[in-house]
Amino acid sequence: MQFIVKKNVQAFGFMLIALTTILAWSAPSVAPERVPQRVLLGMTSDPAHSQAVTWRTTVAVAAPQAQIAPCSGNPVFGNTATTVKATSGEYTTSSGAKVVHYEAVFSGLEPGKQYGYRVGDGTAWSEWFQIRTASDKAEPFRFIYVGDAQANVKSLWSRTIRNAFMSAPDASFVLHAGDLINEGFDDALWGEWCDGLGFFGAMMANMPAVGNHDMNLPEGSGALPSAANPLWKAHFALPQNGPADTPLLEDEAYWVDYQGVRFICLEANAYTPEDYDPEARKIAQAKQIPWVKSLLENNPNRWTVILQHEPMYQVGKNADNPELREAFLALYDKYHVDLVLQGHDHVYARSHKLAGGKVVGDAAPGTVYVVSVSGPKMYPFNPVYADLMKKTIADTQLFQIVAVTGDHIRLNTYATGNEWVDGFELKKNKDGGSVLSELSKP
Ligand SMILES: [Fe+2]
Ligand SMILES: [Fe+2]
Repeated sequence: MQFIVKKNVQAFGFMLIALTTILAWSAPSVAPERVPQRVLLGMTSDPAHSQAVTWRTTVAVAAPQAQIAPCSGNPVFGNTATTVKATSGEYTTSSGAKVVHYEAVFSGLEPGKQYGYRVGDGTAWSEWFQIRTASDKAEPFRFIYVGDAQANVKSLWSRTIRNAFMSAPDASFVLHAGDLINEGFDDALWGEWCDGLGFFGAMMANMPAVGNHDMNLPEGSGALPSAANPLWKAHFALPQNGPADTPLLEDEAYWVDYQGVRFICLEANAYTPEDYDPEARKIAQAKQIPWVKSLLENNPNRWTVILQHEPMYQVGKNADNPELREAFLALYDKYHVDLVLQGHDHVYARSHKLAGGKVVGDAAPGTVYVVSVSGPKMYPFNPVYADLMKKTIADTQLFQIVAVTGDHIRLNTYATGNEWVDGFELKKNKDGGSVLSELSKP
């Protein structure tokens, strides 16, 4: 009898432990519309100490929030998580549905450290995403750069960006050179773009430049665009350090210093023949030039990279952009901008070292300009500036992996099948210039 009682007590104990374990590791079921969608990691002006994230739900949740904690293989890291409140904004999609977008900023993080974060409302959560903060020193890193995604984003762009992710899973962020989708007002296309990124969109920071298609308004709206569609700002958390007192350029013109490189993202549409509200164009044109000048003049980093949608030199069927050259070429030359990464022309073109609109020696002061395309919409190569280009490729979906070390930047270009198609290296000089050389393999 005593034996039976002892056995029963033992069995009860085991059941209790099992029940406690199950309760600890299972979440209550929640309404699916409260579950976060489109979780996108953004960028802040201090990526060594902060991170920003956006997401959305199809109903408003009562307490939007995000949690973050240093993480390792031990699964209970969430117990020490810090919770931050999120801001929210309601949007009506092009199909008339109401959705709510959220943004949360994690601050006080340690440089070069691995964290887990999740977003939600306290009971409906995303999964934990693992990220790493930037180092606060000029340490080596890699990033991905892609040209226009724009068309057939889910069916055909996804393979390119996913190949890029698999080729450089350690990349710190992705530079998207604009025209992310064909119609910036179309929420369904935004959904396709986020689907294309998949979970990587939440783990690798996104730094986009606004393309002309990202500004598009619905046909018959009777207005010209004055900024990217509001859905742009809803989807991206980006450094709030553009030209002062210029709300139109928020989330469009910004910069970040990342481990020895100054990245400047321009709103370049204002300097091109693309549709633009005249007053807004005037403001964007006037405000960005002194802003860029000041960022180039007061740059403590060894390297400078510019991201802009429209290219300095036309290489596709698009119109030429003399106003863009007039606005920035002399500044890029004077302050030794190393690399200008561009889109818009739906073709690949990588320049020689250029200064003053002319080819200069590989060791002379100057800049390398790259246009690329990642989606399936293609234009033939337009030879008007063929003399300035070292390498051109048409009809190919491409991605670039850029590696930065103290003395070198190496940019390698791959076709979507992972075939290496182009590559070059810039080696930094003591005087701030660089020596350009060809790579024969990655
Ligand atoms: Fe485009
Ligand atoms: Fe474009």
